[in-house]
Amino acid sequence: MKKIRMGFVGGGEGSFIAQAHRQSAGLHGRFECVCGAFSRDPDNNARTGAALGLAQDRVYDSWQQMLQAEANRPTEDRLELLVIVTPNHLHAPISQAALKAGFHVFSEKPAALNLAELVALKATVESSDRLYGLAHTYLGYPMVWEARALVQSGVLGELRKVIVEYPQGWLSQDVAQSGNKQAAWRDQPEQSGIGGCIGDIGTHAFSLAEFVTGRQVTSLCAILGSHVDGRQLDDDASMLIKMEGGISGVLLASQVCAGEENPLKIRVYGNLGGLEWRQEDPSSLIHRSLDQPLRLLRSGLGQHWLGAEAQQRMRLPAGHPEGYLEAMANLYGDFARAIRGGAKGHQVPGVPGIEIGHRGMAFIEAAIASHRRHSQWTEITTS
Ligand SMILES: NC(=O)c1ccc[n+]([C@@H]2O[C@H](COP(=O)([O-])OP(=O)(O)OC[C@H]3O[C@@H](n4cnc5c(N)ncnc54)[C@H](O)[C@@H]3O)[C@@H](O)[C@H]2O)c1
Repeated sequence: MKKIRMGFVGGGEGSFIAQAHRQSAGLHGRFECVCGAFSRDPDNNARTGAALGLAQDRVYDSWQQMLQAEANRPTEDRLELLVIVTPNHLHAPISQAALKAGFHVFSEKPAALNLAELVALKATVESSDRLYGLAHTYLGYPMVWEARALVQSGVLGELRKVIVEYPQGWLSQDVAQSGNKQAAWRDQPEQSGIGGCIGDIGTHAFSLAEFVTGRQVTSLCAILGSHVDGRQLDDDASMLIKMEGGISGVLLASQVCAGEENPLKIRVYGNLGGLEWRQEDPSSLIHRSLDQPLRLLRSGLGQHWLGAEAQQRMRLPAGHPEGYLEAMANLYGDFARAIRGGAKGHQVPGVPGIEIGHRGMAFIEAAIASHRRHSQWTEITTS
């Protein structure tokens, strides 16, 4: 298969998530980075392009220049997939422009800065014949797919309860003041959106809950907090949720749980049993039931008792840990199949799309609206 030509907006030296994208795409050997507008700082931009071994004329001063110049290149060497790894405010404008210029888009989450911008983007995505995906990385883990398959199989019975939590600790102090670039833009509403923690990681917990259960969160009542002096946006969120089918639940997201790393965790219970998955031990899935001993399911090649969706997302025999990069690589693998397989429409099978982006944005707005109304129950509406 001819390699897929990818390019980046954002991801200059010193940035975070772009490295994970490049490494994950590299796991497949199906992608090559051919161009980029990596930073607004020209020196950083040039250094990043050189470090990636790019031709100088494909390291662009701006993303606008890149889209125009790449669209004018011969088909056989022009950019195919644009990866957007900038702060949030640029996701929608760049996605819009790239789709209209004829490129596939893999955007970091959130899809847009607010609901109005998202609705406009969704219209463009849905009318485009280019592919659009969102980097909700956790939805690439094999055992998350296994959890979803087990729920669908009915082994848990009627779903009743979901407890999903994402506690981090890295914003426990004012690290933006001491030079942490990632923290600085995340607290600027014009770059981050109206949500802080709720948007940055609350959306991961939310999308995980909807993905694993196959049910939508219909309403919530939320308490948001900001625990560091001078911080503009929330750094902590606690809420009760109601989901379709009479499921009740709890969703917690926080970036001030001092000392925590990335223990995103979900527990789902029905009348016959429950499941538990935790991203810091992503190869394990616990299945509890009323009348059987606890089962610890483990991912790995050869675990033939796992479902097909989980099996096709694993690379190594059991006991060789696969993690975050492999989860993201699974999304890249799905992109590669869709691009080279000539997939029609905008949805990449297996990759979170604009609908998940829309749900996430509606969730952020509902949580903030609920908090502002003294935690009143608030519906999540996407219509
Ligand atoms: N999927 C995940 O698990 C996950 C994890 C972390 C971050 N993210 C998302 O990834 C995005 C980036 O986050 P990060 O932590 O890597 O941020 P970062 O600050 O480390 O990187 C942002 C990059 O964008 C560049 N940039 C800004 N404006 C630009 C412009 N106009 N043109 C070109 N480059 C520009 C910056 O120079 C920098 O290189 C955010 O939207 C964040 O929500 C997702």
